[in-house]
Amino acid sequence: MKNKKGKFFVLEGGEGSGKSTQIRKIQEYFGVRVLITREPGGSPYAEEIRSIILNSKNAGQADAKTHFALFWAARADHLKNTIIPALARGQNVLVDRFDSSTYAYQIFAQKASELKGFFWEMRRFYLGKYVPARYFFLDVKPRVGLSRKQQQTGEKLNHFDERDVQFHTRMRRGLLDFFKQVPHSTIDANPQFDTVTKALAAELKKYII
Ligand code: TMP
Repeated sequence: MKNKKGKFFVLEGGEGSGKSTQIRKIQEYFGVRVLITREPGGSPYAEEIRSIILNSKNAGQADAKTHFALFWAARADHLKNTIIPALARGQNVLVDRFDSSTYAYQIFAQKASELKGFFWEMRRFYLGKYVPARYFFLDVKPRVGLSRKQQQTGEKLNHFDERDVQFHTRMRRGLLDFFKQVPHSTIDANPQFDTVTKALAAELKKYII
């Protein structure tokens, strides 16, 4: 592993796609070969920004432009302090959400199409050569995902989770648009959990060596 650089992957999916639970299964399966991290967050400073974005009592009132800047700021720190060092050690990295979420949530779901051109400039500027090699998309119908989410007792909902089905439908449309432009694999996340785990693990195995 010494002189080999790790590869950089992203796991993406809508609310209720089972992403958080699937990622724990994936960690058990791949062990230390893969560093699993998340956005927003993934480094100490970016986790503080996460808390402002998701937990502040005022967060629900902030507009897309404000969130857009905060997500990119958190991402810059996460990349520098967690992702790049892991890749340099030869570890593969799998991030739970990344710039695909900014594209889908801020530009589509929060209806800020004026940020589209700017998004690709930010991507070039902030990511440079650290562009993910592949995105894995757990695709669930927004209605199915939201009803799953509402049934999960004990899970803390953020202000994005609580928005209506139209918001989540626009978000999914944003992801589909983003994935036209980057390498990706789509995994049907509508079936029951174990079926999805098998399909996801089989797809990841093709790329994570
Ligand atoms: P989660 O990690 O529990 O899914 O929560 C993260 C929330 O933040 C989720 O609702 C999606 C949202 N989000 C954005 O709106 N833009 C982004 O760039 C990222 C990474 C997440």
